[in-house]
Amino acid sequence: MLEKLVVPKAAGKEQRYNLLLKQIRKVIYGEDNLVANLGNVAAILHHGMNFTWTGFYFAHGEELILGPFQGVAARMHIPKGEGVCGVAYARECTVIVDDVEQFPGYIPCGDFDKSEIVIPAFSKGNVALILNINSNKLKYFTEVDQKHLQQVMHLVEEIL
Ligand code: SME
Repeated sequence: MLEKLVVPKAAGKEQRYNLLLKQIRKVIYGEDNLVANLGNVAAILHHGMNFTWTGFYFAHGEELILGPFQGVAARMHIPKGEGVCGVAYARECTVIVDDVEQFPGYIPCGDFDKSEIVIPAFSKGNVALILNINSNKLKYFTEVDQKHLQQVMHLVEEIL
């Protein structure tokens, strides 16, 4: 049984991520099943940070396929190179979008999404899956989010 995580309301981004990372470590080190782990990682981040959409897409050849997520129903297949997710997959790196309306080829999801981050996780040198997060605030994602979410993805890489 997971302990209930108490995140102080006044906690800043860094403190919040550090608390969430502790809980994510406990989840991942206590469970072998990848889908079960990704489901709880998405839930911990989504509710802990109040994002509008938080979830994974699995890399599958020339496309991404929807994995465990929190938020509204989303596109199930995204071709490599399309949308923010497909671009992060093709470039094999983190992509931060300050204003989704300015991103050519952006694939809309929730009505309130304003900014977005996508972080890849690697297995044997190849992108195995990506984490996609949306916020209802413009320019929400910074190098603070990138640093902590990359730590999350390094934990995920340990179970791929
Ligand atoms: N906005 C993404 C599509 C996925 S959803 O946001 C869940 C994109 O442009 O790739």
